[in-house]
Amino acid sequence: MKKLLVSFTLMLTLCRSYADEGMWLPMLLGQQVYNDMVKHGLKLKPEQLYSMNKASIKDAIVIFGGGCTGEIVSNQGLIFTNHHCGYGAIAAASTVEANYLQDGFWAADKSKEISSKLSVKFLNRIEDVTQKVNDALGNLSAAERTKKYSEVVAEIVKGIVGDDEFKDAVVASMFKGNQFFVFVYDVYKDIRLVGTPPESIGKFGGDTDNWEWPRHTGDFSVFRVYMSKDGKPSKYDASNVPFKPKYYLPVSLKGFKDGDYSMIYGYPGGTNRYETSYGVKLATDITSPTLVKLRDMRLKYMLEEMKKDPAVRLQLASNYAGIANYWKFFDGETKQLLKFDIFGQKQKAEIAFTEWAKGKSEYENIFTDVAKNYDAWNAYAKHRQYINEGILGSPLVAYAASWLSVENLLSKKDFKPEEIKKAMDAATAARKNFLADENKKSDQHILAAVLSMFYSDVDKDQHPKGFYEDLFKTNNDIEQNPYKMFAAEVFANTMAFDDAKWKAFTEKPNAADLGKDPAFKIAKSFIMNYNMNYVPKYAAFVNKNNDLNRMYLKGLFSKDSVKMNSTYPDANFTMRVSYGNVKSYAPKDAVKYDFACTISGVAAKYVKGDYEFDLPAKFLDLYKAKDFGEYADKKLNDVVVSFITTNDITGGNSGSPVIDAKGNLIGLAFDGNYEALSHKLAFDKDLNRTICVDVRYVLWCIDKLGGAKHIVDELTLVRN
Ligand code: ARG
Repeated sequence: MKKLLVSFTLMLTLCRSYADEGMWLPMLLGQQVYNDMVKHGLKLKPEQLYSMNKASIKDAIVIFGGGCTGEIVSNQGLIFTNHHCGYGAIAAASTVEANYLQDGFWAADKSKEISSKLSVKFLNRIEDVTQKVNDALGNLSAAERTKKYSEVVAEIVKGIVGDDEFKDAVVASMFKGNQFFVFVYDVYKDIRLVGTPPESIGKFGGDTDNWEWPRHTGDFSVFRVYMSKDGKPSKYDASNVPFKPKYYLPVSLKGFKDGDYSMIYGYPGGTNRYETSYGVKLATDITSPTLVKLRDMRLKYMLEEMKKDPAVRLQLASNYAGIANYWKFFDGETKQLLKFDIFGQKQKAEIAFTEWAKGKSEYENIFTDVAKNYDAWNAYAKHRQYINEGILGSPLVAYAASWLSVENLLSKKDFKPEEIKKAMDAATAARKNFLADENKKSDQHILAAVLSMFYSDVDKDQHPKGFYEDLFKTNNDIEQNPYKMFAAEVFANTMAFDDAKWKAFTEKPNAADLGKDPAFKIAKSFIMNYNMNYVPKYAAFVNKNNDLNRMYLKGLFSKDSVKMNSTYPDANFTMRVSYGNVKSYAPKDAVKYDFACTISGVAAKYVKGDYEFDLPAKFLDLYKAKDFGEYADKKLNDVVVSFITTNDITGGNSGSPVIDAKGNLIGLAFDGNYEALSHKLAFDKDLNRTICVDVRYVLWCIDKLGGAKHIVDELTLVRN
């Protein structure tokens, strides 16, 4: 079996021959890291990677939407990203009659592109604000630190952004609060859908293949960023013109072989590689299994309804995909953490640390305090997960929970009518959004199931007072399931679904009527119980944990003489570059996985009419005719669909460009492999792989399958 090396031991030895681990800040690449990139095959100069004055690769990289990466690939603002990143916008642009999610879409020209609610952000500059933040924090206690930190961050952000709606500034904490940078962005809000393959290509293999290699998904979609006529960031406006980028990526048709250099720029969302053994144990024992169990249940009821009706499929698709993605992730992560005994490895490192810390008053009690802190919180962790993933996993209850602020206003003695009016208007608007996304059947099942699961799973002392007593008293038909009876009553009577009742309430809003609404009663019982009794405990736990972790890292760096600028900080949705190589791997004894998948492999997985493995008829025709154009891999006489690299990435990197040694686009990163799903907490140098869609398959889908050659013509293609 392969040996797993935990990331922090790697970083601390700083032995760069262990390469491939590391999400580096491109603006702070040291000579050592650059040299190692060159050793891996890079042929570019440092200023081509990142430069403040000259156009460089970093100028082609954007934050796409809320949590993805995209790259500029033409001088007219064309963006490539993943299909699963464009998914929400594609679903929103679709109707049952014009179903772009199902059938795909290619704008015949710019006038046919579809505007979206998305925005993209370009990194403008970064600034080290460590001194400023530390001056403000001084020697405050854990709880005071948290409060002061948000104040000083708000002040820094306000100083930069003011009220410019096209600027954004984010203060990012590095090394668990030992260093702080502010990242300043230009925000473009006119983003239009240019095209997407059908879902049967863009999400081919669905959740069965998700997080797994081999993989045959064409996970890409195409957008365009627009700017105002005078070249400024803008909201949607018909008079806007395509964005003129400082830099865009050329696209390679040359392909690659096992071992070739690969570099990925993007916005990895979060890793926690300095997590303690205590955090690992809490995740594997309580929080992750609870999340998985609750999502299992929610997904089952959603899918049941989605399979019955194409309109419901469209309505729930985006939400379903998001829930399913991290359901499988946390299930896989738990398995890998246990398999490789990450807990045991972290524990060993902590024992060594404590040994070193003896007699050093700043550090010697850290792990006694960490243990105490976890002991005080662990008993409530499952409850917290049940609130977030269970109670609020019912869309009705989540919506009704938003009425808590209305109740708050109504219960004030001296409430102001204008304030109430404003709150009611907001609640009515939120209700409209809620109803547009709501599928009552699945939600009613979810509500009944979650109430039942909470009852048996969460410690009885922690239940909201009187809630279950009332539920059992009124739903006492012994022939029936009390939870289902109760949920049926709630769905039949809440004003959330009843226009007349809602209208009556908005005309005369009062706390007494609101208090009688059965959906509101659930939200109020569970949320108030949680907020009053457990939120303070959670806040104390988090504040203390942050403080202890900051000190642990400081100590660890001192113990091993590590300088912050010679290693990489945990991912935190700031721009990073990772380098490695295209590379096959051996997932288990006697099994070897090749580095690339082909169109033939897609066709081999085809199951007619299947929810996840169906294919468009045109795909099969083109495949049979071997109509691959210039997108075929010469050696294979087939189109490479996807490939794997050793790059270190994580969620948020979705859509990131995979770049060859000379700076050309060869693919888009879209996933991680199952065998290394512990990557957020521990990087595995043997098994970790990034799964990428080959850009030649992207172009084949646009040109041959989509008939949109004009989009390929916009790119700068590199043939030799
Ligand atoms: N696992 C991919 C990621 O997190 C998302 C894949 C979306 N597909 C799906 N079947 N849910 O980047």
